[in-house]
Amino acid sequence: MPVKDRTRAPDLLLRFSVDQPPDEAYRLVVRQLGDSLARAGFGLEGHAGGTLKDGESEFGIVSTWKPGHELRVTVKPVDWTDSPDVSLRLRFEEAARGSLVTLEILGWKASLRSAGGEIGDWAAVVLLPAIYRQFSPVGFGDWVMDQQARRPSGESALATYRDPTYHWPNFLLILDRLHLTSSDRLVDVGCGGGAFLRKALESGCSAVGIDHSLEMVRLAQDVNRTAIEAGRLDVVAGSADDLPVDSDSFTSCVCTGVFNFFPAPMGALREMFRALAPGGRLAIFTDTAAAQGTPAAPEPFASRCRFYEPNELAELARKAGFAGVRVEEPDLEPYAKAAKLPADVAAHFVGTGGAVLLLAAKPGSARKKAPGFGESRATGGT
Ligand SMILES: C[S@@+](CC[C@H](N)C(=O)[O-])C[C@H]1O[C@@H](n2cnc3c(N)ncnc32)[C@H](O)[C@@H]1O
Repeated sequence: MPVKDRTRAPDLLLRFSVDQPPDEAYRLVVRQLGDSLARAGFGLEGHAGGTLKDGESEFGIVSTWKPGHELRVTVKPVDWTDSPDVSLRLRFEEAARGSLVTLEILGWKASLRSAGGEIGDWAAVVLLPAIYRQFSPVGFGDWVMDQQARRPSGESALATYRDPTYHWPNFLLILDRLHLTSSDRLVDVGCGGGAFLRKALESGCSAVGIDHSLEMVRLAQDVNRTAIEAGRLDVVAGSADDLPVDSDSFTSCVCTGVFNFFPAPMGALREMFRALAPGGRLAIFTDTAAAQGTPAAPEPFASRCRFYEPNELAELARKAGFAGVRVEEPDLEPYAKAAKLPADVAAHFVGTGGAVLLLAAKPGSARKKAPGFGESRATGGT
């Protein structure tokens, strides 16, 4: 006998696709939901039987927890009376490429119509706007970009930045140009998981790494534990436009894979200028407009980052006070080979399109002469 489907029709339904397969999409989206609720002041425990709390008050429960398939959070009035509950349900289906995610809010209108209806009110005022903001294409794209690169966090980001395969060619390029020695003192702005620092420290230099992601700071500390214990490295939390370092204190400043994220780059450039000692050298590696929308800078980055023409970048550096400014549009393939990347990965670095390395110096002579830059295929200069 056919069973009557008692599932209530959702009051709100949102469907979106993500690139990850359902298991991974589930972890990603549940985490995003938790972040979204946290911003609205609520704590969600993402596991079977987990609670939804507002401070100490528990007013919701994870009523369905099926990783890769379904999550349901049921919200009840604080006094757990019989008034109708409101549920948020996320369903995950495998799609041709990744997963299709369906987000539904159930029982909202019924709650609004019921006596009291406080959960319906709460859903209308707090839950729905928070969720809509987060899962709208704009909110979702921002979140993904933050998680992956602008303020990396989560397991997948930790794994990526511990050993960022695709960054090794530009790490080697920068080191080739800076040829650091044991008398150098380096600051790495937006140091991520500290992989560049680890390589740079092989020169015998001392260094400070700065990042605004606490998870990256902890990872960079972990990756470089020996250098920290030897007193050659500090890794600290901080923002590029307010560097937590003394003025005139570094011989070299590196900022790689970060500059595109700055909404107002002059603030960061002025801080790098301040941090460098006279004669100190700056190396910024970033993407040009040619990279926008390519595998080097796909969505959601393509529409959210700032991309610079080489000359524009040079002009910004001059405005911040730097001299000897020059820009390279490097062919990274030799560096990909030097980094011993697998052939299929190295193939991404053939050609010059899309990357720019800016080299410049703070005017004045270093107390100990700075070594200058290494050989380059420079395309511009002052
Ligand atoms: C794409 S990752 C690159 C990390 C590292 N430089 C590398 O190449 O592997 C960008 C890093 O810059 C950091 N970042 C972005 N904007 C920042 C800012 N305004 N201040 C400090 N760190 C920032 C992020 O947290 C992230 O760790």
